[in-house]
Amino acid sequence: MFNAVIFDLDGVLTDTAHYHFLAWQRLAEGERIPFDEAFNERLKGIDRMRSLELILSRAGRPYAPEEKRALAERKNHHYQELIATMTSHDLLPGALNALDSVREAGLKVGLASVSKNAPLVLDKLGIADRFDDIVDARQIANGKPDPEIFLTAADHLNVEPARCIGVEDAVAGIQAIKRAGMYAVGVGEPGVLTEADCVIHGLDSFHLSDYVR
Ligand code: G6P
Ligand code: MG
Repeated sequence: MFNAVIFDLDGVLTDTAHYHFLAWQRLAEGERIPFDEAFNERLKGIDRMRSLELILSRAGRPYAPEEKRALAERKNHHYQELIATMTSHDLLPGALNALDSVREAGLKVGLASVSKNAPLVLDKLGIADRFDDIVDARQIANGKPDPEIFLTAADHLNVEPARCIGVEDAVAGIQAIKRAGMYAVGVGEPGVLTEADCVIHGLDSFHLSDYVR
């Protein structure tokens, strides 16, 4: 039996993964660096500075640290412009039901997001009170695919990692869940999230009874 479900935010509960993509795309275009959806797949779940490093590795020149800081800030500005008008209507189909069904079944509900914007997005979606614990970028030293964020959430929830389900849309996120010793539910394409224990198209297909063992 499982005792907790730990959800990722961007791309799982709301479509901010697309906003991250648009913001990076705008930045890359400005720098004339090639960028597309396939490359973006590698950035999902990866923190801001490491995502920027990956993008800049495809540029034809080195970037100074202060240039990198300015670019990261610009990307965040683009991103915050995109999320400015978000409301609870931006929850993905099935998201609220999934959170409520977990709580109603008596399991703990956690959130694990490496985004520094996670508190803002949760506030806009109006769902911060639906979690027993929220772990975001401020509380961890190592981002996904390191298991730290999921292990920290499990620790805060007081549940053994082996009794946790992690839910993720990112390859790096699924790796983090597996390294934490948890059951991994992928949200997206089975051909992309190959290390997940099972893959669903969206949270409208999340049924806790499918994972009870
Ligand atoms: C999430 C997203 C990534 C994003 C990261 C940092 O993990 O999946 O695409 O780069 O958060 O987000 P931030 O809001 O701190 O730039
Ligand atoms: Mg995600």
